[in-house]
Amino acid sequence: MALLFIDSGRKYGKINKNVYGHFSEHLGRGIYGSIYVDENSPIPNIRGIRTDVVEALRHIRVPVLRWPGGCFAEYYNWKDGVGTDRKRIVNAGWGGVVEDNSFGTHEFLDLCEQIGCSAYIAANVGSGTPREVSEWIEYMTFDGDSPMANWRRQNGRHEPWKVEYIGIGNENWGCGGQMRPEYYADVYKQFNTYVRNYGNHRIFRVACGADGNDYVWTETLMREAGTHMNGLSLHYYTMPGYYKFDEYPEERKGPALEFDKPTYYRTLRRALYMDELITRHKHVMDRYDPKGEVSIIIDEWGTWYEVEPGTHPAFLFQQNSMRDAIVAGVSLNIFNAHSDRVQMANLAQLVNVLQSVILTEGEDMVLTPTYHVFDLYKGHQDSTLIESYIQPQLKGTSEAMVPALHVSASERADGRVHATVVNLSADESQQLHCVLDGQAFSSAEVRYISGTMTSHNAFGHPPQVEIKKMPVIPIKDNRLDMHLPACCVAEIVLS
Ligand code: AHR
Repeated sequence: MALLFIDSGRKYGKINKNVYGHFSEHLGRGIYGSIYVDENSPIPNIRGIRTDVVEALRHIRVPVLRWPGGCFAEYYNWKDGVGTDRKRIVNAGWGGVVEDNSFGTHEFLDLCEQIGCSAYIAANVGSGTPREVSEWIEYMTFDGDSPMANWRRQNGRHEPWKVEYIGIGNENWGCGGQMRPEYYADVYKQFNTYVRNYGNHRIFRVACGADGNDYVWTETLMREAGTHMNGLSLHYYTMPGYYKFDEYPEERKGPALEFDKPTYYRTLRRALYMDELITRHKHVMDRYDPKGEVSIIIDEWGTWYEVEPGTHPAFLFQQNSMRDAIVAGVSLNIFNAHSDRVQMANLAQLVNVLQSVILTEGEDMVLTPTYHVFDLYKGHQDSTLIESYIQPQLKGTSEAMVPALHVSASERADGRVHATVVNLSADESQQLHCVLDGQAFSSAEVRYISGTMTSHNAFGHPPQVEIKKMPVIPIKDNRLDMHLPACCVAEIVLS
């Protein structure tokens, strides 16, 4: 038995819905065939954008989508991807395959409009110029008479789009130019100068932040350019093979579906490390920005395993199991807990790449366990974080102990309370005794996913992981008892 305490009277900040954001790159089968098909394809689509994928994404209320990379962004020229004469280029970073640029700015912003989400554009700093970025912004957002706005109109779009976020560079410590933080800080300010706000539209500027635990990068960027940015990014991937966090790079990733219990707990421990990363980057930022005006934007996170056997090594296609769902559940709980600074997070990546919410094969589409976590957690979007504690218990192996349970709770605008609880144990269910405070509750609705640690959904097989509902649980004297299966992510809605 574990005690869970939730107090809706103790309110913290708002959880920005963009914490539930996603990321889509021109990488492997991440866009072509999966999101974007030929308009004449038998797969139902609107202007080439797959209807089934859009419907699934609308259902989990995707709030923001980052594009076109990743490392791809750092060799992308947006002008190759507009108009009727699209350049065929080599996607040199991801397998050397042909990129025909048929999915470009218009198609991406059409996708965002169909999903109903904000656009987050990653601009090319490593191999591009300030003029290219400046013209791209003018092309997308300027309403008046100008060369770029008129070119947009010629290409079929009269009204400007409302692009809300721009990332000025991607991984500029690595694939974005191998820069030192001092050098990048100067380059950032140079590029940022030419990102114009047109009319009343204010574009939110994100500087490239640290790779995992590189606190020196954060320190340097905050010191040299902190007053020129709205957000600073952070990239961290969960790779199971290695657990000594200080020696982070070059780890053994291991397969996505064939793993043992020690590897499972090691993976979870590595995912939980996100909490320390955010806390320590926040401490550095607090010194330069005590009012918390610069947000942390975790614009790449998720699991990274070996590719599925027989698939292209550069396409980063991996299956997705309950292990990924547990990683997603604890990560999203951690982002909620840091909602004072963490204003956006983007899971890598949307479809068919790394920890995807959707997998496609021809016309077939599979919703992964991670997809269901985003469904269970969507009630947190724009809700108010409230106090919640869970009785500490440990699970795991001597090498990787993790908390047995993990929780986050928020209050929605309609007064209903939404708690998400993760049972990290691979094989032990839990009896939860919930003590509620702050208001009188009468019933709880519980939706959840659970399985073995390797349960997953595969093409041509009935799904092993789907959302189930418990019968409505009555609440007496603000006390609630419930059973949580092993390896489980649950949403509890109290009213
Ligand atoms: O998400 C895959 C790659 O991981 C991205 O292109 C890059 O930014 C990161 O290293």
